[in-house]
Amino acid sequence: MSTFVRTAHAGQRSSVGPDTLVLGIETSCDETAAALVLGGTEVISSVVSSQIDLHADFGGVVPEIASRAHLESLNPVVARAIVEAGVDESRIDAVAATVGPGLIGALLVGVSAAKAFALAWQVPFVGVNHLEAHLYSAFLEDPTLEFPLVVLLVSGGHTMLIEMQDHGRYRLLGRTIDDAAGEAFDKVARFLDLGYPGGPAIDAAALNGDPEAIRFPRAMMDDSYDFSFSGLKTAVVNHVRKNPDVSSADVAASFQAAVVDVLVTKARRAAVAVGAKGLVLGGGVAANSLLREEILGACATDQIRGFLPSRQMCTDNAAMIAAAGWYRLGTDGPSGLDTGAYPNLRLPLIDPDAWARS
Ligand code: KG4
Ligand code: ZN
Repeated sequence: MSTFVRTAHAGQRSSVGPDTLVLGIETSCDETAAALVLGGTEVISSVVSSQIDLHADFGGVVPEIASRAHLESLNPVVARAIVEAGVDESRIDAVAATVGPGLIGALLVGVSAAKAFALAWQVPFVGVNHLEAHLYSAFLEDPTLEFPLVVLLVSGGHTMLIEMQDHGRYRLLGRTIDDAAGEAFDKVARFLDLGYPGGPAIDAAALNGDPEAIRFPRAMMDDSYDFSFSGLKTAVVNHVRKNPDVSSADVAASFQAAVVDVLVTKARRAAVAVGAKGLVLGGGVAANSLLREEILGACATDQIRGFLPSRQMCTDNAAMIAAAGWYRLGTDGPSGLDTGAYPNLRLPLIDPDAWARS
């Protein structure tokens, strides 16, 4: 199922305002996170407990281990977010949690806990789309961003170019037809034995390498806004097998240059085409040093405002969940307590057929 319906209170707007304090909960993958956000933009506290060490030996996220770790960490993480905020839990006005997309077992831990908190505290529960929350992370750091915006959302599971026309109004410009950018980073890092998670490992290794040492292919550099990274990953594997003595740093730097080249070329083209007032990055790969540098350079040349959320806001966190929850509470009202978890949830588009076309 790719959508979820706010059955119990659909259409009933809730009064949210600058004083509304939302507890956000995020457990969709390998970060257990809780945050308190005031008025949809002011982060009062944000706690992220990463499971990286638990999954590192396996070279990737193990779903069952992730669910168990969320179960163990969630209550302490929520408690810490409340203590760090210096508020009493009676001050919390609503509880928001990621309902998808993500790992089903991991999502269920956060959704069930959020509903239980909401019930115990007698406040609304609001289910949040993780992808929409990534779009909202930019607004946490700059609430003055003006529409239309083009958002390049690049994470471990998704690579999308979105035109954000207004709050809640998204048009899909393009997406990956195979691997997500983060997935490509993770797979190439694993192949090169650079460590886990792969994105930061390649980012660091590339600092000592030559980005022009190997000319890896840039796929789909035509007019479309779609991406493809699986051929690039295969090209890296083939090159290293043919040249076993090649420097890993050179491979990392050249691979990273190829990914960033494609991402930046398409994002800036999209921003110009839609007349965007800004180009925003979101998702874990937006923490990449070269991508950040190149996007800012492109925006300066094109005289478009570039906005890069801080690295903590790019990767998974609960402040972005609370921010998106605050917004959704205002437009759609609370979600029913019968809301489930939706592993394949999609971003709600103004033109849902675009998923099929792209
Ligand atoms: O958004 P995120 O934290 O989780 C998902 O929703 O997927 O993104 C995680 C992804 C991973 O693939 C990770 O390798 C990548 O973001 N990543 C990076 C960097 N930091 C994290 N990729 C490239 N460079 C980085 N510095
Ligand atoms: Zn994410």
